[in-house]
Amino acid sequence: MTTRRTVLAHSAAAIGAVSSGLLLPSLARAQSDKLRVGFMLPYTGTYAQLGVSIEKGFLMALNEQGGKLGGREVEFFKVDDESNPAKGVENANLLVQRDKVDVLVGTVHSGVQMGIQKVARESGVLSLIPNAGVHAATRALCAPNVYRTSFSNSQPTLALGKAMMDRGHKKAVWITWNYSAGAEAFEGFEAGYTAAGGTIVEKLAVPFPSVEFQALLTQIAAAKPDAVACFFAGGGAAKFLRDFHAAGLSKTIQLYGSGFLTEGVLEAAGPAAEGVLTTMHYSDALDTPRNKNFRLEYAKAFKSQPDVYSVQGYDAGQLLILGANAVKGDLSNKKALYAAMDGVTIDSPRGKWKMSAAHNPIQDMYLRQVVKGENKVIGIAGKAVADSGAGCRMG
Ligand code: BEZ
Repeated sequence: MTTRRTVLAHSAAAIGAVSSGLLLPSLARAQSDKLRVGFMLPYTGTYAQLGVSIEKGFLMALNEQGGKLGGREVEFFKVDDESNPAKGVENANLLVQRDKVDVLVGTVHSGVQMGIQKVARESGVLSLIPNAGVHAATRALCAPNVYRTSFSNSQPTLALGKAMMDRGHKKAVWITWNYSAGAEAFEGFEAGYTAAGGTIVEKLAVPFPSVEFQALLTQIAAAKPDAVACFFAGGGAAKFLRDFHAAGLSKTIQLYGSGFLTEGVLEAAGPAAEGVLTTMHYSDALDTPRNKNFRLEYAKAFKSQPDVYSVQGYDAGQLLILGANAVKGDLSNKKALYAAMDGVTIDSPRGKWKMSAAHNPIQDMYLRQVVKGENKVIGIAGKAVADSGAGCRMG
């Protein structure tokens, strides 16, 4: 396996130039029979840590196979998408048109994913989504060459409302970032909470990636809800947890979230995260041999602890291995490639999950609570939760 390491803080264009093979003689590139994998992930900004975790998880899956895909050596190309939707198409084309990758692995941010989706549909390049939950990717804009190994944005929050009502929290304020991931997480929350009899008294939002929460925390205090439910992730999630706690709100108002709120941020959030309840398709504390072994090997390889993003990246790697092995590394054999990946069951550290007809995981959702700096599983919030796949027509 060849890895072209790059300085993560570089701009997208700079990373592309260094990592793309553009600096190699074109003859050498033409003769290369390495399989070309492109990472389009955030390596800077509030979601930087998510991108890094995804990449590590993906590499771990490949390393378990001796670093090869379908018998072929692998060459990596990287673009820092900066979680910037305005550059989504341009950045995806750096990998697809310029670097001629065989598979594009990306990304985290739903808005950026829409750019990748456009390029993937137009070019037919195999596209593996290791995080971004934007509904359209596996609904109206689904495509045979696009597979998601993470979740759809409303999946984790669908199960949240019932858990809140079970605890007697009947009046809630919703707060999020104002972009598609927040809006779609709200859809799931609203459906589950109102069906269980809950009332949403206020819906608040800040622009992405702002972390200026003070004015909205004052509004929450004035509304006196039983609970607050939210979608935040990465650096912004850690800041929200700290600000909510520092404002004294955690004394009287139970905080809930889509599980991203407490993923990969527990150290940064410290005591502010204690007691927070979330729903998610993974927990560090899952007491299964598969998860324990995954965590051990990951920690050995990367000297850091995995999170849900690592697991999603790992599963994208597992899916690609399955497909590439079935076609002996010839990803241009699309019929056989898709046949091998469609409807597959992935043996994940999160538990086994099945790829839906629209190419989104059907998976269990765990109810978790932060106890002594760890996401403890305290129940199953939803069994085999599936996205509707509404409007998806493959082909
Ligand atoms: C999204 O934009 O789809 C997203 C980002 C971070 C965590 C979860 C979802």
